[in-house]
Amino acid sequence: MNAKALIFDLDGVIVDTAKYHFLAWKSLADELGLFFDENVNERLKGVSRMRSFEIILEVNDASERFGEEEKQRLIARKNDLYVEYISRLTPSDVLDGIRELTDAARERGLKTAVASVSKNAPAVLSALKMREKFDYVADAAKVSRSKPDPEIFLVCAEALGVEPQCCVGIEDSQAGIEAIKAAGMRAVGINVAVTSVEPDIVLSSTAELDLDKITA
Ligand code: BG6
Ligand code: MG
Repeated sequence: MNAKALIFDLDGVIVDTAKYHFLAWKSLADELGLFFDENVNERLKGVSRMRSFEIILEVNDASERFGEEEKQRLIARKNDLYVEYISRLTPSDVLDGIRELTDAARERGLKTAVASVSKNAPAVLSALKMREKFDYVADAAKVSRSKPDPEIFLVCAEALGVEPQCCVGIEDSQAGIEAIKAAGMRAVGINVAVTSVEPDIVLSSTAELDLDKITA
């Protein structure tokens, strides 16, 4: 392929914040007496805050338990817990191989972007001192649909001025891999629990990321 851009997911790819989303949802679910485990959590990766809560409610057959206002209040509480966790992030939390890959991409003239539906993405990138490593960041403010919709990856490609077929997307979630493939891009899956669409390249951790390998 003629790769011209790399598009990175944030949570679980650039930094291991996926575990903090899990812990924050787990606290809220426990408080509300709702079942929630790692398997259900897999389905929340790459999915917006409200949709994540709706999935937890669906799993518990409790979709009708809370009204709209109450749901807004509860997801705000989940976010307060999450923000508490990410307030401790430092540049040393960037996952192995990520800085090396962004540097190698820059050196070789490839564009780079972040595709995260998280409203906390700008704060996380800033705590990691990683914002300046990317040519473009598409966060929740720039898209209307969560992954698995391809919108966020297409917004990145457009902003970078690169055709989707020349983009490589890197993701840790099933919804993210589906979004990359639906955007017509090559997908690299990091430790992804695959159930539907297969990534083009499967890696078990970000330490295995190698520019030659993922663009060959
Ligand atoms: C994604 C995470 O990056 O962001 C999801 O994979 C999360 O787990 C989503 O729900 C929304 O994040 P936030 O920070 O806006 O609640
Ligand atoms: Mg992710």
